[in-house]
Amino acid sequence: MCALSVPALALTRGTNGEEVLIPQLGVGTYKVPDDEAERVVCDALEVGYRHVDTAQMYGNEAGVGRAIAVCGLPRRDLFITSKLNNPNHRRDDALRSFDATMEALGLDVLDLFLVHWPLAASAGIDLVDTWRTMIEILHSGRVRAIGVSNFQPEHLRRIVGATDVVPAVNQIELHPWLTQSELRAMHAQMGIVTQSWSPLGRGRLLAEPTVVEIAEAVGASPAQVIIRWHLQNSLVVIPKSTHRERLAANADVFGITLDDTQMAALNALDQGLRTGSHPDQIQV
Ligand code: A2P
Repeated sequence: MCALSVPALALTRGTNGEEVLIPQLGVGTYKVPDDEAERVVCDALEVGYRHVDTAQMYGNEAGVGRAIAVCGLPRRDLFITSKLNNPNHRRDDALRSFDATMEALGLDVLDLFLVHWPLAASAGIDLVDTWRTMIEILHSGRVRAIGVSNFQPEHLRRIVGATDVVPAVNQIELHPWLTQSELRAMHAQMGIVTQSWSPLGRGRLLAEPTVVEIAEAVGASPAQVIIRWHLQNSLVVIPKSTHRERLAANADVFGITLDDTQMAALNALDQGLRTGSHPDQIQV
């Protein structure tokens, strides 16, 4: 199994000052059922992915774990992310669920663990307490880096202001219809790596005329054009597909380059359009 030559970004907030590198391209597993996850992740690893994104909420960590176990790749070659589910924010629940995540994935050390959603104070959750538990998990040595997902500027300010520990990553919905310029500028200032979820707009962006036109001009598929847009914007991107040939094509993007005019045309598609939930609307 030949690894792709994927560029990596440094997560500046690894444990004990160790440099943790995150491959810029990974495979997403949102909505992949547990009984399909082993096959999908095995396919992804076989076509060269080395970065896999899962979550407690997806209910497929065991399937991902089976793929890791059978793929025959050295653990050090893989980068595995999971996320703390909404009902598990309280300290005891977080610690217990982290143990369950590690058991399901069959790992001693996870590469990245994220707070999946910033739950509102109205749910009786203080995000600072959740973040302190994440820091405790980091200090246990069982995860190489911790971060957040779907955090808005005020959430980032609160947890960093209270703890001085900066999340390595904020994984947010991001694609040409939702370019998230305010958050990205804040991340750059704070040293947070931006990760794009639903990078293809759940597949809906593939029919966007500007994307189709650029795809024809560069001799690539619409999905490849959008993935290049993420990579050339220094984002970490985790497109999801359950089809092996699409997984392979989505990763076959390192011979394609978009020029400044094409990048600008894609940037101009921004209309603040979400395909998923707004972080302020998430409940436990
Ligand atoms: P499928 O899993 O059937 O391949 P996102 O990562 O933005 O959430 O988008 C995922 C959606 O895009 C899924 O519905 C996936 O369908 C579809 N998709 C992913 N890659 C491709 C591709 N190369 N061509 C067509 N559809 C794709």
